[in-house]
Amino acid sequence: MANATAGTVSLNLPGMHAGARDMVRLGMVRSRVCCYRARRQGLVMCAALSGNTNEDAVLGDVVSKPRRFPRVVGMGSKLIGCGSAVPKLEITNDDLSKIVETSDEWISVRTGIRKRRVLTGEESVQGLAIDAGKKALEMAQVAPEEVDIVVLCTSTPNDLFGSGSQVSTAIGCKNAWAFDATAACSGFLVGLITATGFIKGGCAQNVLVIGADCLSRYVDWTDRGTCILFGDAAGAVLVQATAAEEDGFLGFDIHSDGQGYRHLNAKSCGVEEVLSSTNGSLNFPPKKPAFSFIQMNGKEVFRFAVRCVPQSIEASLEEAGLTSSDINWLLLHQANWRIIDAVATRLHIPSEKIISNLANYGNTSAASIPLALDEAVRCGQAKGGDIIAASGFGAGLTWGSAIMRWQ
Ligand code: ACO
Repeated sequence: MANATAGTVSLNLPGMHAGARDMVRLGMVRSRVCCYRARRQGLVMCAALSGNTNEDAVLGDVVSKPRRFPRVVGMGSKLIGCGSAVPKLEITNDDLSKIVETSDEWISVRTGIRKRRVLTGEESVQGLAIDAGKKALEMAQVAPEEVDIVVLCTSTPNDLFGSGSQVSTAIGCKNAWAFDATAACSGFLVGLITATGFIKGGCAQNVLVIGADCLSRYVDWTDRGTCILFGDAAGAVLVQATAAEEDGFLGFDIHSDGQGYRHLNAKSCGVEEVLSSTNGSLNFPPKKPAFSFIQMNGKEVFRFAVRCVPQSIEASLEEAGLTSSDINWLLLHQANWRIIDAVATRLHIPSEKIISNLANYGNTSAASIPLALDEAVRCGQAKGGDIIAASGFGAGLTWGSAIMRWQ
């Protein structure tokens, strides 16, 4: 039974079972994802029972609509559009050498980075995400209303509770639901794999995956070990359902390991201050919460990346039934040219098959892969039918890869 009171809807178990039974009768429950859909179907039914309450009026037509497309489990998925956006302010290595003891030579030799873009007060990571998302839809020739899910991959949203909904609404995706995915520099891979999971599970036709980060806001600009690395940006792709035989998402591999957390993090501060204090009494109410600057053991992260990324790409290739010689483009998270070079060498991929724009933007976290993809597509480097091996790695620790066909 469903309880509907003043526009709020809650479900109890008998009601859920009824919904699920209906779904079974309709031949729709074929996976865990679809059981979730069954529950959602229950919610749709219950929301209809609630009538035109005040809250329905506030939410207008975004409340509980019938499904826009028939569910077909076992679809393929493909990338059909991309877009990107970067802030206006460019900071060169020489600019940085004026604020910390470093040089263009040290930074470019150790990392391959020459400049990066940094958000100014007039811009926001949300604004970049909106721009990138709109461009991806434009390239894909998909109207915003046709998008079913928006995944905003970010570790630096405008709002602690996530910015996905606001980004989705600003783009005009009025039939989509949206959420944030947080996995630092692996964020885009996580979003991409999530998107294709929803599509292949029959739960969505068009998923807009946006990677957007502004790590410049969490960098200690007096720490030369980290401030030279990061830049701000957003990149997006539109993932669309296609026939199984046209599947362009050929294999993936993804991992996380909390033990490596100590090597790369930006911790929340303030909690310890509530639980204990120097004189033994509780400090309540807590002070304003905050996050520490990015803390990184660069050498350990470097070792982790050159060890785990090739293994992950090999696992994805195996799932795809391909070898590294089948890859047209190696597209790694743009963290350090030496990492990219080492991974390519281990996989026997020649440098002319590497997509990299690290020199111009630095490490843009969840944005780096779609930003580099977008540039490669728009300048004609990556073409329809090309096989791309993409891999993200970073805080968590998290890492993963995907083998995809562009368009
Ligand atoms: N300019 C000049 N000297 C520097 C600088 C700098 N910007 N930074 C460090 N140094 C000095 C150090 O103090 C040290 O000096 P010492 O020998 O006198 O002690 C020396 O240069 C060597 O420092 P290392 O830290 O050992 O330099 P390393 O070769 O390891 O390069 C770097 C550092 C570039 C950070 C590298 O370790 C790296 O790229 N690591 C991987 C980072 C990464 O990939 N992160 C990805 C994920 S990010 C995310 O998920 C949010």
